[in-house]
Amino acid sequence: MKPQVVFVLGGPGAGKGTQCSKIVEGFNYTHLSAGDLLRGERARDGSEFGQLIDSYIKDGKIVPVKITINLLSKAMEETMQKDEKKFRFLIDGFPRNEDNLQGWKDAMDGKADVKFVLFFDCSNEVCIDRCLERGKSSGRTDDNRESLEKRIQTYLLSTRPIIEQYEKLGKVRTVDASRSVDEVFADVKAILEKEG
Ligand code: ADP
Ligand code: C5P
Ligand code: MG
Repeated sequence: MKPQVVFVLGGPGAGKGTQCSKIVEGFNYTHLSAGDLLRGERARDGSEFGQLIDSYIKDGKIVPVKITINLLSKAMEETMQKDEKKFRFLIDGFPRNEDNLQGWKDAMDGKADVKFVLFFDCSNEVCIDRCLERGKSSGRTDDNRESLEKRIQTYLLSTRPIIEQYEKLGKVRTVDASRSVDEVFADVKAILEKEG
């Protein structure tokens, strides 16, 4: 069975991870966060990319796709090898720019189906407030005002155009992410029940 993929996009702090965790509880999806995979690689003993990833994350820049696609495809393969029925994936925080998208196409065209993009839409102010709040306990090196300004710029300049491309293909399902976790999830649930 070919992997069936939902890309999950939205600004930093829009609630992608929170909603993906809720989806996994009720639907047969595996959640792969590109950011989490990169942070894992950064922390891995002997990683040749640790320093590069660290500086990109602090600067809110998008890591070269060669690194990210390797992590994603490895995680997908491992999941499907363990259980062949686990071929549905939420890929959270990817593709975030043109390089990400091209890298996905080069590696995955014909090998995985992108069903749609789940887009968590909310204002930059809400995104920043949520990340600063998360920063009180997340230990993340990028949940601070300085990094957040750069992350928002990257989101506006690089990620929004990717969402617009999928929009033109009729492949974006937009959710108003500024509401409470449960209100957002009610919409997410309806979308997934409809799309399968
Ligand atoms: P993302 O993965 O998009 O960066 P997270 O899911 O990590 O976002 O959420 C960012 C922060 O905002 C977390 O501290 C989370 O608990 C909180 N959060 C997530 N969704 C909501 C929401 N709908 N309302 C208020 N806070 C939220
Ligand atoms: O999605 P998340 O907020 O966890 O991403 C944190 C950071 O990880 C991003 O700001 C970026 O520096 C890096 N990242 C990346 N490429 C991705 C996803 C995340 O470089 N596709
Ligand atoms: Mg996240």
